[in-house]
Amino acid sequence: MNIQTKAVHVGDRKRTAPTSVPVTAPIYTAVSYYYDEAENIDRVFDGSLKGYAYSRYDNPTTNALEELITNLESGYGTVACSSGMAALHLALLACMHEKPRRILCAEAIYGATVRLLSGWLAPSGVTVEYCDIFQLEVLKAHLQAFQPTVLLIESISNPTLRVPEIDKISALCREMGIAFMVDSTFATPLLIRPLELGADYVVHSLTKFLSGHGDVMGGSVTATEERFPLLKQMSKTLGVNLGPFEAYLSMRGAKTFPLRMERQCINAKKLADALAEHPRVKKVNHPGRKDHQDHATALRLMPGELQSALVSFEVKDAGRAEIFAIMDRLKIAVPATSLGDVHTLVLYPVVASHRDLTAEQRTRLGIEENLLRVSAGIEAADDLIADFLQALS
Ligand SMILES: Cc1ncc(COP(=O)(O)O)c(C=O)c1O
Repeated sequence: MNIQTKAVHVGDRKRTAPTSVPVTAPIYTAVSYYYDEAENIDRVFDGSLKGYAYSRYDNPTTNALEELITNLESGYGTVACSSGMAALHLALLACMHEKPRRILCAEAIYGATVRLLSGWLAPSGVTVEYCDIFQLEVLKAHLQAFQPTVLLIESISNPTLRVPEIDKISALCREMGIAFMVDSTFATPLLIRPLELGADYVVHSLTKFLSGHGDVMGGSVTATEERFPLLKQMSKTLGVNLGPFEAYLSMRGAKTFPLRMERQCINAKKLADALAEHPRVKKVNHPGRKDHQDHATALRLMPGELQSALVSFEVKDAGRAEIFAIMDRLKIAVPATSLGDVHTLVLYPVVASHRDLTAEQRTRLGIEENLLRVSAGIEAADDLIADFLQALS
């Protein structure tokens, strides 16, 4: 079944009464469940009877969303969490359980992920190192020397939109017995499905494309059959689970994500091409363009015309004042901190997502003061392009 079909069907239409079935998954607010025979609650707790007991363990609305994400990502099971960061934290703790606490992370990674690893996990005894994952030989040598328990990367990096060779990296990890975790928030399962390419865990910020309307926070971890049971057990105790209202909103959003994502990727590419022609634009980053350093990998892993719904660009000779002025002149695109919404969003990485990095770290990652990131929405491409061209003039 194709993603577009799964998105609107999976997880819905569970029988709740003998003669009728709700067409879409309802919001179940009950915290706990009782059984006509008290013995059955014991059987639910020990797993010999399928049923609900307590909402931190399982909730029918949240489970419906989890079933949908599991299907979209070709996984075995999913835990929906209260945010993307909660999902990443849970996944990292679960995969390091009773194993050496060593994480190798791509150096091109979301700023809050660096904060989680270096600011919170490292001081609690986890050894964290960062690596350039775009040079496979360098990565291989680092994996061999460091012997991490897990390698964490993003399927499309932020904000320069680099595309790692996930299939080759997962083969390396498998060879060395290292867990491979991919934050696939930017790609969504429409563009890349990391578990099909050999990853062990795929993490999403549901807050972004999968929900898509800028009105709900959520996250998810989907894992293989081997990895899922421990992840689920751990989530029951840590209580990072997504509540039923947010699960409902996320599922409602996810039904249209393939449609939105398709339009957003096409808009991003059109905007990238228009920006590249503008005399004030020094460089455009979009993996669908021939001049992007990972264009070949992007086409190999994401054949067709959908490679990224984000685009970033550098403005010639611009510092903060010039970039702020461009942001202030935008009339349609919204300068706000997020991505993946139906409306176009613009973010200035040096003051937002990559604020905590040193200037030297930012330069190494290609994030200069003149770089702006755009998450294309579903508006008419012509309106969007006109908005950016007038803001640049
Ligand atoms: C790639 C990526 N991963 C994880 C997150 C964290 O998600 P959340 O804000 O839902 O916690 C974000 C947020 O921007 C992100 O861009």
